[in-house]
Amino acid sequence: MQRSLPFLLLSCLGVVSAVLQNITVDDTSPDVLYGGKTFQCNADNACQGVDASLEQLYNESTTFTEGSITFSFSGVAYYATIDVLFGEASVIIDGGPGTSYSSLDAAGNFTIRHNISEEGLPSGTHSLLMLPSPQSNTVLGFDSLTYTVSLPDPPKTKSHAGAIAGGVVGGLAVLFGLLFAALYSHRRKLILRRNQRKSAVLQSMNIGRRNFGQNVDVKDPVPAI
Ligand SMILES: *[C@@H]1O[C@H](CO)[C@@H](O)[C@H](O)[C@H]1NC(C)=O
Ligand SMILES: *[C@@H]1O[C@H](CO)[C@@H](O)[C@H](O)[C@H]1NC(C)=O
Ligand SMILES: *[C@@H]1O[C@H](CO)[C@@H](O)[C@H](O)[C@H]1NC(C)=O
Ligand SMILES: *[C@@H]1O[C@H](CO)[C@@H](O)[C@H](O)[C@H]1NC(C)=O
Repeated sequence: MQRSLPFLLLSCLGVVSAVLQNITVDDTSPDVLYGGKTFQCNADNACQGVDASLEQLYNESTTFTEGSITFSFSGVAYYATIDVLFGEASVIIDGGPGTSYSSLDAAGNFTIRHNISEEGLPSGTHSLLMLPSPQSNTVLGFDSLTYTVSLPDPPKTKSHAGAIAGGVVGGLAVLFGLLFAALYSHRRKLILRRNQRKSAVLQSMNIGRRNFGQNVDVKDPVPAI
């Protein structure tokens, strides 16, 4: 998967903690399993009874079937439409109790197209089953399905950058420390040597003063540090 620059920038800033991405599958996808005879409605085949024009269909096609429709996906949500041309069908996720959809509403009017969706599914593999009622000569139409994948936490850009920055800062700190220690020890040596020189000079002056009785005002030739 390609990651956009804004995405990377955001993840660098630690703004993005989880990435959700929608993936849409067409009714023609081999991942969609039909448990019975199918008839595809597209530009070449008439779409009698489809509750949407061809242009409104995803990839301009819908598959009709008298059998079940099964689709498995790894994600946290799905969104789809189900066309119930005749009869009734149940939409079941992960073998749950299921929800019923009918081609007729309570008032007896045709309601072919139904939006089906579920959000907040636990992250993992899910199985969606659209099951026609065997009693009612049901015909289902399936156009497309969108499911949401939750990608693992964004690239460790932040922590890598942090580790690198930490390493660089740490390395520089050590370097400066060593440099400082070297300079300090050099300076100490210089001071030591200078003090030695100073006491040698003072000593010789004192000797001179003693020898010649001169009243020499001995001042430090080098200021003390
Ligand atoms: C995925 O698609 C659904 C339905 O169109 C939409 O409500 C949802 O916000 C989308 N999610 C993402 C992450 O794009
Ligand atoms: C759309 O349909 C064509 C022809 O059936 C197919 O080759 C193509 O993969 C489909 N596109 C998608 C996104 O499913
Ligand atoms: C159902 O159909 C009747 C007449 O056939 C109509 O009066 C009514 O408004 C329709 N109800 C709905 C919810 O569309
Ligand atoms: C189904 O969703 C579409 C938008 O995706 C909306 O226009 C339509 O009104 C919805 N139908 C029902 C019955 O909620």
